[in-house]
Amino acid sequence: MSVAHAGASVLLALVLWALVKRLTATKARAIDIAGPETDHWLKGNYHRIFQDGLEYNLQLTEKYGGAVRIHALLGEEQLYVSDPRALHHIVVKEQDVYEETDMFIMGNKLIFGEGLISTLGEQHRKQRKMLNPVFSLANMRDLLPTIQPIADQLCDLLVSKITAGEQEIDIVPWTSRGALEYICQAALGYTFDALNPEKTSEYAEALRRFSPTALRLILIRPFVPFFVRNFSLQWRNRIMDWVPIKPLKEFRRIVEVMHRTCKGIYADKKSAIEGTLVDGSLKLNEPQGATGFRSRGRDIISILLRANRSSNVRDMLTESELLGQMNTIIFAGFETTAIATSRLLYLLASRPDAQARLRREVRAAKMAHVGDSARWQDVNLSYDVLMGLPYLDALVRETLRVYPPTSLLSRTTRKSTVLPLEFPVRSASGQEVTSIPLPENTTVIISILAANHNKEIWGEDASDWRPERWLTSTGERVRLSDGENPPDGYVVVERSEEEDKVPGNRNGIKYPGVYASMMTFLGGGRACIGFKFAEMEMKQVLTTLLSTLHFSLPAEKEIYWKMNGLQVPVVRPPAGDGQTPQVPLKIRLVRDDDY
Ligand code: HEM
Repeated sequence: MSVAHAGASVLLALVLWALVKRLTATKARAIDIAGPETDHWLKGNYHRIFQDGLEYNLQLTEKYGGAVRIHALLGEEQLYVSDPRALHHIVVKEQDVYEETDMFIMGNKLIFGEGLISTLGEQHRKQRKMLNPVFSLANMRDLLPTIQPIADQLCDLLVSKITAGEQEIDIVPWTSRGALEYICQAALGYTFDALNPEKTSEYAEALRRFSPTALRLILIRPFVPFFVRNFSLQWRNRIMDWVPIKPLKEFRRIVEVMHRTCKGIYADKKSAIEGTLVDGSLKLNEPQGATGFRSRGRDIISILLRANRSSNVRDMLTESELLGQMNTIIFAGFETTAIATSRLLYLLASRPDAQARLRREVRAAKMAHVGDSARWQDVNLSYDVLMGLPYLDALVRETLRVYPPTSLLSRTTRKSTVLPLEFPVRSASGQEVTSIPLPENTTVIISILAANHNKEIWGEDASDWRPERWLTSTGERVRLSDGENPPDGYVVVERSEEEDKVPGNRNGIKYPGVYASMMTFLGGGRACIGFKFAEMEMKQVLTTLLSTLHFSLPAEKEIYWKMNGLQVPVVRPPAGDGQTPQVPLKIRLVRDDDY
């Protein structure tokens, strides 16, 4: 027997053992509310929820309400939740009871180190305390001008591809490269020259390969806690050497590249901040096109390192925690924003009226700030002006509501508890219930998608993409939530007496989301820390591209968005293969009649 076969047999035995353990462990658990029958003895309802599951997810909630009992792998019962009060309990009120699953935390620790998405409890709170101010409005304002050249470069690149007139271009590689460049420059202050098509950086390539490779390991992920608990690092490495699973080997290499690169950048930054860098290997302000440092210390990690140095010993993060934040932030902020930007461009291409209205708004704003000689298209909008454009804001909000890039998250109950509901559901025997007893170790799936489509909160047209819902009849922005402070000079309409007119707020009931009462960026202590940055990036890219370029849909190709956890756009057969992520759009220079 070869070493590879022996390794495979060991792995198989372990997997079987873990399966049997899980089967016997789950028998005792029961969630006494209604839900669908299992669809498959192994996959339960999971494949319908997680693979191209948009319709199925919405049907689940339509049929059973805001809390549904579903079947996971091997028949395990889990709770699928979108009820507003239940979500408030899960992410805010009792967040210590509903923690991330072991699979999530342990898997992330192996991949990213000790960053925000790998820690729990006090350690996580300590990290957030240090990191929250780093993502402050003031720091975002400061960052905006330093990242404008990325949007300009993306625009120039697309312009260079349409010199012969209108062209069909798949925008996915470009929004993806753009988002990578954005997050690397903003977070690390470093450019990998990702928008240069001739350049391939090992790190950028590793990040691009990360999600597709991780997806191929989806069946192995549930066994991560078992391996971490039962095998030393040395043994885990040996087992990985033995097992002949190609994606696992590739994933290991990806993680190694990510770690090595961030370690190098971290060491340079640390030296620069401590003033010990001797020969200027920290190449600040390099000419466009080269890789290296860019941000002159305004980037997120530099701010973090300085804040850490000046904080008291109790609050300080260790070196491994600081290093852990680097890949965490890059990973969390890369694909999510790339997907949202592609979706926005796709929606604008399919709705020429919305595109023209946004372009008019951007032109008016830029013309109001144009100097004597500059063309209005070249005006860079300040943070406050950019964030204060009402229609742009409505477009971004509505897109992130109807099409949240991350649709489903999971948590597990660390002790038995009772989950209260805003809207009653039926028990398994058909009685109305307003709360659900949950045993310890119950997995809870948070459906961001179903919450954002809840008709009780967003109205009967909840699933329609209608940016106007965020505007008053005179085109001003409706006030969104109590305590939200708009930038200076921003027109805000006071909350209407008829609460139903305020999006995301019905009869005083609303979701606990950090952003516009929607769950897209979650809420509570583990809400997305980078949502202001994501919003700023998307708005900067849109205003820059739309000033120069016009987008429309190709007549003969149907673009279809699959919901596989993350959103995946494909072209349906026969024009496409229905598999490869792509958004082909027709792009040309803007004409006078495009406003
Ligand atoms: C449209 C873009 C984005 C979406 C939809 C999004 C969504 C989310 C969601 C739903 C979570 C909670 C995940 C969980 O609890 O398992 C999260 C967490 C996080 N996000 Fe974002 N995100 C986006 C962009 C960004 C950006 C640009 C950054 C960084 C600059 C970022 C950094 C993070 C980090 C570090 C966390 C972990 C927070 C914690 O555990 O304390 N995200 N994000």
